[in-house]
Amino acid sequence: MERKDLIKITEEFVKAKMKGYDSGHDWWHIDRVRRLALHINDKESLANPFVVEITALLHDSADSKFAGDDVEACYNRIGDFLEESELAGIKKRVIDVIRNISFSNKNPSSAISDSLLHVVQDADRLDAIGAIGIARAFNYGGFRNNIIYNPDANGRGKSTIGHFYEKLLVLKDLMNTETGKKLAIERHNFLEMFLEQFYKEWDQQGN
Ligand code: ADP
Ligand code: NI
Repeated sequence: MERKDLIKITEEFVKAKMKGYDSGHDWWHIDRVRRLALHINDKESLANPFVVEITALLHDSADSKFAGDDVEACYNRIGDFLEESELAGIKKRVIDVIRNISFSNKNPSSAISDSLLHVVQDADRLDAIGAIGIARAFNYGGFRNNIIYNPDANGRGKSTIGHFYEKLLVLKDLMNTETGKKLAIERHNFLEMFLEQFYKEWDQQGN
């Protein structure tokens, strides 16, 4: 099968897999991560672009927040898909990278050292910061019915603003690649600006 057809069937597999996810984790997140990963890789020539694209497309197909207890079944399904698609040669590497990509996998600095992971992880992290990251955070918070801010906890309680401190503001310093680091600066500054304005408006409401 030609590479462009392999990309096409991977897109279809991913779209079907993500139907039950929240809309901040939708197909367009995958598409942005794919494009960002290809851009970073283009600047840095760290990995084979085809493998970068396949990995970026599949990177959220076994997310524990949505797969429940069935994460291993999801990895098996991804493995079967890659074998059926004549991509058995990259199966182990792609699945290892996907397993290590998530911020929430308790390995923020990653257990494996693979340039493929570095590229796709940077792209995924960039999509969690900046204006899009803010939109996704409030979308996720709404999906979970979380409050936007808890002033009693000084911003750090279980709220979407709290999530900025738990995750979003630390991502800039976790970037792997030079291009990722550069792109993260502007997005990080935007988070800071947003918080500054948010607190300013909050205080204007009295209290
Ligand atoms: P990833 O899959 O990129 O490792 P997650 O699955 O943890 O990250 O998060 C996906 C998106 O949902 C990100 O934009 C993240 O900031 C947002 N998100 C995750 N947890 C929360 C939360 N508790 N409150 C607000 N947004 C969240
Ligand atoms: Ni993602």
